[in-house]
Amino acid sequence: MILLTGGAGYIGLHTAAVLIEAGQQVVLFDNFSNSKPLAVKRLEAIVGRAVPCVEGDVRSRADMDGLFDQHPVNAVIHFAGLKAVGESANQPLRYYDNNVAGTLVLLAAMQRAEVRRFVFSSSACVYGEPDVSPIPESAALRPANTYGRTKLMVEEILRDLHVAAPGWSIALLRYFNPVGAHPGGQIGEDPNGIPNNLMPFVTQVAVGRLPELQVFGGDYPTPDGSGVRDYIHVMDLAEGHRAALDWALRDPQEVLTANLGTGRGYSVLELVRAFEKASGKPIPHRIVARRAGDVPAYWGDPSLARQRLGWTARRTLDDICRDAWNWQRRNPQGFA
Ligand code: NAD
Ligand code: WQD
Repeated sequence: MILLTGGAGYIGLHTAAVLIEAGQQVVLFDNFSNSKPLAVKRLEAIVGRAVPCVEGDVRSRADMDGLFDQHPVNAVIHFAGLKAVGESANQPLRYYDNNVAGTLVLLAAMQRAEVRRFVFSSSACVYGEPDVSPIPESAALRPANTYGRTKLMVEEILRDLHVAAPGWSIALLRYFNPVGAHPGGQIGEDPNGIPNNLMPFVTQVAVGRLPELQVFGGDYPTPDGSGVRDYIHVMDLAEGHRAALDWALRDPQEVLTANLGTGRGYSVLELVRAFEKASGKPIPHRIVARRAGDVPAYWGDPSLARQRLGWTARRTLDDICRDAWNWQRRNPQGFA
């Protein structure tokens, strides 16, 4: 059985759907600080069966030991964490506590339970402003914000753990910009409050929850002046987790660090145009000042994941926009 911490969240739900369809048994674990129990009901409707979900906190040793005592877990995918870059600057202790201390408690409980296969949600944020794109895994690691530093610290903790306990198999997955939704439209991204990220902002403009998109910066050294990112469909990302899990279950007893991206970038304005085409909805937008801390352009080199995990992102920007729109149009208020 596979434990998905943070399994009720955006990426966890989609990964659970892919793993269950592939025949895996999963147990979700979440404190619902950034997700809703209804989302798990939607997952159950997609897969057509009950999905065990335990409410608890990764920072609680009692919660974690209880989970491993009650479920025959043989591998963990660790999604649980906080992910808002801006918030991490204002609440550093909360971010280090959830993301770093929470991971330490989970790892200690895994050691006690003798579970040694671990897949970790890292982020392209660990690279900060890269020297080149596409970014290889060997690029310098210099995260530019607190959130990114929490991810890099956990990566380093896991590398140290592997030196001391070489029997562990650990995949560090550095995601680029996850977007889109399950094609059925029952689950998708449902941020609290006004979205920080581009795609949920665009979809909320499309359903009329927000009046217009502000495009942060029109004078970057990019083809159309707007910022460029590597947008990866969340179903491709979910399949990347299945590949990483299959790798860990073969007990390679090493630490594998892999980018999960598409290998190409799109600009904000390209994404807006693709979304308008997919949805048939105009997205009113206005170019405003750059957002502090933003990098002009970057995208990942996914060739290592292809070689080592046999995984490549297959879905296009049009697929991403179609599925993001299908989710938001069917659920204008998200899971509310
Ligand atoms: P999300 O917020 O939708 O999911 C995270 C889940 O973890 C939520 O359901 C939340 O309630 C839960 N959680 C948070 N703290 C917890 C705790 N202490 N104990 C138990 N549960 C807790 O976010 P997501 O987009 O699904 O991201 C999943 C992981 O991937 C995160 O670790 C995030 O940092 C990482 N990541 C996300 C992105 C992205 O853009 N979405 C990019 C790179 C990496
Ligand atoms: C994308 C592009 C913005 C909102 C962050 C984290 C990263 C990862 C993904 C977790 C940029 C522009 C955005 C808006 C805009 N998360 N934009 N108007 O900043 O690339 O990455 O989320 O690990 O670590 O840093 O994503 O979606 O916020 O921005 O013009 O209202 O859209 O300037 O060019 P970002 P994003």
